Formats: sequence, C-alpha cells, structure tokens
Amino acid sequence: MAVPESRHITIAPSLLAADFGRLKEEVAAIEAAGADWLHLDIMDGHFVPNISFGPTVLAALRKHTKLPFDVHLMIAPVDPYLDAFIDAGADHISLHPEAGPHLHRSLQHIRKAGKKAGVVLNPATSPDAVAWALDLIDIILVMSVNPGFGGQSFLPSQLPKIAQLRRLIDAADHPIALAVDGGITTTTAPGVIAAGADTLIAGTAVFHAPDYAQAIAALRAGP
Ligand code: DX5
Ligand code: ZN
Repeated sequence: MAVPESRHITIAPSLLAADFGRLKEEVAAIEAAGADWLHLDIMDGHFVPNISFGPTVLAALRKHTKLPFDVHLMIAPVDPYLDAFIDAGADHISLHPEAGPHLHRSLQHIRKAGKKAGVVLNPATSPDAVAWALDLIDIILVMSVNPGFGGQSFLPSQLPKIAQLRRLIDAADHPIALAVDGGITTTTAPGVIAAGADTLIAGTAVFHAPDYAQAIAALRAGP
C-alpha cells in the first residue's frame, strides 16, 4: 500500500526503556529531541508478567513536560484504575479488551472524562475486537510483541493486521491513530509504515540510542 505523502508519522518513545534514576531529565531530552507523545507502559505483574510504575510517577512527571501522556494500561481489572490515571494527567488511555468485562463502557468512561480512548490488540487478538466500538475509539494500538517487556523482537505476523486495520480506519467517519508497539527499529519501522501505521511506539530504539533526536528522525523517515 502506498503511503500518502501527507501522513505525519507520530513518534511516541516508551518511558519503559529510559533510565529510571533520571526520569525528569529523560523526558526533557526526548521532548527536545522531537518526540510527539510520551508512551507510559503500566504493568501490574498479573495481566502481564512484569511490574513497572503507577499514577504517582505520571503525576510527578506531568509538571515537567508538555508532551501528551499516552498511557498503555496492562492491568486487570482495568476499570477501577481509570480515574487514577485520568487524575494523574493522562491525555490518552489505551486498554486491552481482555482486561475488563465491558470494553464499550470503559471507552465511554475515558471519553466522558475528555481524554482520547485507545484499544490495544495483542498479537493473537482479532481486529474484530474493535469493529463495534469504533465510534468511541481515537487510537488503535497493535502489539507487535507480547506485552510485558521492552527489547523483544518484532512479530512480522502483525503486518497484515495493520493493513486490515488501515482499511477499517480509512472507512471510519472520524480520525483514528493506528499505532504499533514492540520491536520498532529503523529496520522494522519502514514495513510498519508501509502497512499503514501512522504512529510508532519505540522504547529501546530511542532510549538506548546515543542521540535521541537522530533516533527519532530515523524512525520517522519511513520506507
Ligand atoms: C511492551 C510495551 C512496549 C515496550 C516497547 O509491553 O508495551 O511499549 O516498552 O519496547 P521496545 O520498543 O523496546 O520493544
Ligand atoms: Zn506500550
């Protein structure tokens, strides 16, 4: 599929790969380097086999950056914690359909709070999971690794799913970001963009690079 000339590629570095002893400086550095969003991976050691950080860290960082907070919740049950992340300064909240009994109701709750609502599709989760809630969705996030850890290898099996979701989004009556998360590098990004993604989440490829601005520009360059 040809990439329209006009498509801006949004880059959202994942804080998970940052130096946790210097979070304020790390966030300032990626903002100065041209990041569009800050991706925040919230893990509970139950829905995914790893624990990261919670709303207190968001609240502490909120006053140090103007970057939109793109919150990826990997916690179950997710509904009891939505307000804590909204109050801590989340701008976008994305959740997995498997993390609660009523995806539609969770999305309504996020939208009612004036935040952008996202749905995250695990590698084995079908695009059908979003088909009947599109009117409430601002972001579809395709996991190109199993969620839980940074630094994993990209799963090429997700490329046709990205292309299928691009067609679904193009037929929708409002803008929906198509994001891809996991194993994004300068090697995998071109294929992901060619398949139709407009937003790249990248932890290792940005925070482990010697020059953040160069790393962000290289990911955005595309095919
Ligand atoms: C994985 C997270 C990702 C992760 C990406 O569960 O959702 O956001 O931090 O890390 P990399 O870019 O290193 O694969
Ligand atoms: Zn993530």
